[in-house]
Amino acid sequence: MLCQTDFLNAFEKYFGYRASVLAQAPGRLEILGNHTDYNEGFVLSCAVGFGVTIAIAENGLDHCRVRNPEFAGDAESIINLENVGSAVPGDWVNYIRGVITELGKRNIKIRPFDALVQSDLPVASGMSSSAALEVGFSFAFKEPFGIELANEEWARLGQAVENDYLGLKTGLLDQFSSIFGQKNALILSDFRTVEVLRTVPLPEGYVLVVANSMIKHNLVDSEYNSRRAECEGAAEKIASKHNFVKKLRDVSPALLESEKDNLTLLEYKRAKHVTGECDRVKCAVEFLDKNDINAFGRLLFESHESSRDNFENSTAELDYLVELAKSIPGCLGARLSGGGFGGITIHLVREADKDAYMKAIREAYKLQTNIDPQILACEIGQGARAIKLEK
Ligand code: GLA
Repeated sequence: MLCQTDFLNAFEKYFGYRASVLAQAPGRLEILGNHTDYNEGFVLSCAVGFGVTIAIAENGLDHCRVRNPEFAGDAESIINLENVGSAVPGDWVNYIRGVITELGKRNIKIRPFDALVQSDLPVASGMSSSAALEVGFSFAFKEPFGIELANEEWARLGQAVENDYLGLKTGLLDQFSSIFGQKNALILSDFRTVEVLRTVPLPEGYVLVVANSMIKHNLVDSEYNSRRAECEGAAEKIASKHNFVKKLRDVSPALLESEKDNLTLLEYKRAKHVTGECDRVKCAVEFLDKNDINAFGRLLFESHESSRDNFENSTAELDYLVELAKSIPGCLGARLSGGGFGGITIHLVREADKDAYMKAIREAYKLQTNIDPQILACEIGQGARAIKLEK
């Protein structure tokens, strides 16, 4: 990862002139509220200090040139704005093509540009590296092409890249958190009204540690889409008898129990996870307001258990990381975070124990699985921004 000056110099070296805008978009951590976003529920999340940085400028040519040296080495990708084309499997440029395509659907035209990209986010791990690219390019395009959209609309545009351009039926959480994240505070978001309800600071003296299991199952996309369909199936059946119900957000744990016999076992288990998560998010805010960090930590463990048993989006490796969290001193709670089926776990750790904790969990995981995990202490970062550079 280059510092800002070296990064802008690298742009000049590649393209022969200075960039006009520098955009930065962070990854995110889902703290609590797993798979609640597309059920119009609540989530506690934050942006992190890691993210994507983009230097960009209009190039006056008839095509765009984009570079991402960490990902693609010296290769330069060309995008023809007259014919952006559909997604190419495994190509990082898909996220840029997707943003351009979605802008086009909204009748927003951009002109040929050059862009250089770098990122310090772990890829495909559950920290939303793809949303950071979508949001980063969205913000990078604003000033050069005079695009004015509300931040919620930018988040929806990024989600449309996933849903329509790439075919993954994800919710709005990732792009929303990357845009609305607040330095040093969690955000409590409502995905029915699509707004940040408030910020929720973590008590002093605690940090978030991420442990990446380094394993991602290759059926993630289809598993994600089928979980979503099961949630929507459950909501529809309950709605047919209770017309105030639109999504699982409207179903209390008590109502779900009373409707259990009308649902398939899978629908019931998926709905139990989502309604439980919405409840846990509300309790978490109360506990944090009262400075009861132990009770907050317990909710993280409960959330993981519900993922494992009800939503079935955990893996043996994620379960192992959470089991380790219970036995290594300093951790108050841990859970899988993000879509699941591999990826990361988050750990709420006493700051004083952070270094020893990170070392112990790394060694224990390696011993058990023979995999070197990535263990990161995460700062709670600011949401996306773009700055116009001096000529
Ligand atoms: C992925 C999706 C989000 C959200 C989470 C689970 O990160 O992109 O929209 O559904 O999984 O909470």
